[in-house]
Amino acid sequence: MTWIKEHRGRICHCLCMEIGRRIFIGGAVAGAAAFGAGLWWRGLSAPYVAAADRLRSPLPSLPETLDLVRFATLGANGHNTQPWRFSKVADGLAIAPDFSRRTPVVDPDDHHLYASLGCAAESLSIAARARGLSGEIGEAGAEGLIATLRPAQPEIGALFAAIPERQCTRSAYDGTRLTSEEVGVLAAEAKVHGVTAIWREGAAVEPILDLVIAGNTRQMENPAFVAELRKWIRFNGAQAARTGDGLYAAVSGNPTAPETIGRILFDAFFRIGPENDKYARHIRSSAGIFTLVAPSNDPAGWIAAGRAYQRMALRATAMGLRNAFVNQSVEEPAVRADLASLLDLDEMRPNLVFRVGRAPPMPRSLRRLPEAVMN
Ligand SMILES: Cc1cc2nc3c(=O)[nH]c(=O)nc-3n(C[C@H](O)[C@H](O)[C@H](O)COP(=O)(O)O)c2cc1C
Repeated sequence: MTWIKEHRGRICHCLCMEIGRRIFIGGAVAGAAAFGAGLWWRGLSAPYVAAADRLRSPLPSLPETLDLVRFATLGANGHNTQPWRFSKVADGLAIAPDFSRRTPVVDPDDHHLYASLGCAAESLSIAARARGLSGEIGEAGAEGLIATLRPAQPEIGALFAAIPERQCTRSAYDGTRLTSEEVGVLAAEAKVHGVTAIWREGAAVEPILDLVIAGNTRQMENPAFVAELRKWIRFNGAQAARTGDGLYAAVSGNPTAPETIGRILFDAFFRIGPENDKYARHIRSSAGIFTLVAPSNDPAGWIAAGRAYQRMALRATAMGLRNAFVNQSVEEPAVRADLASLLDLDEMRPNLVFRVGRAPPMPRSLRRLPEAVMN
């Protein structure tokens, strides 16, 4: 695998602004100033909605390469950096890492980067199969992950229909449980790629919540982590539409702001306590938490974890369920070790952690145009 290294309110009595994974709370003075500056919930602009619609328009029955790339890029990806490049190869499409889009603080070993490639590869595979193309994903090679696109019998199923609907839903859920059958159906999707999905619900979620909070606290105390996150936040719809990437505030149901003011507010009001309270609220409102464990702790395993997550998220979407990552528990090495020991994983690495439950949809995120990610 030589290519591997060549390669996350409202204004009320106070200003409570939640951006991506993080919340900022300020006093009445800041709230009034922000209100005076025109910061108020403005909803989603028409151009933003149009871009989100275009991105998710139906896959043509005879898709061009760029149509398939568009469906691939609808995969989940860390901080919405979209760390991928696509290129045509002899009998298919290659997906290679774009290391210019790494997030070295939150993801120093590129684990999430490879998992994100896995998410894109899985969407591509499912979309190709739905349109009568083989869509097999080979082992990672010099050109990246290759999806073969040879003629095949079309396989149209619920996962395909869910590709444009899936989203990471960062809100409080309705508190209802999943049946054991539902849990089993979701976990079976991970097994397709040899990945184990460990489910915890009820009181058994509390120790995981403690680790999410421990990880989140460490991250928020790290100025480099905060700076990296800030770089990927998109404070208003125009900025989000211009870049086509990053974590747009409204996706988490929050007010938008001119960029300069958004950055000032971020610096002034990003606080550990409210953030941790939010995660506790969100997790306790969920039906439970899945932890994914891949068979190997290397890029091949990390890609498998991403593919497994993407299938589970698509299946959940098809079942009317929502999900959102709470990866703080696997991003800080010491906390990750605690999670591994909590789940009796011995030497195995817990790759990805996400909550599942029921909730209305949130606004959708954007992607760069397929042309921008094609070689
Ligand atoms: C490997 C990986 C790690 C992620 N970690 C987090 C996380 O810790 N917290 C979070 O809120 N979202 C996380 N995400 C979700 C991305 O931010 C999300 O996929 C991206 O913003 C695009 O939004 P969408 O999936 O709703 O289209 C992660 C996604 C991937 C693939």
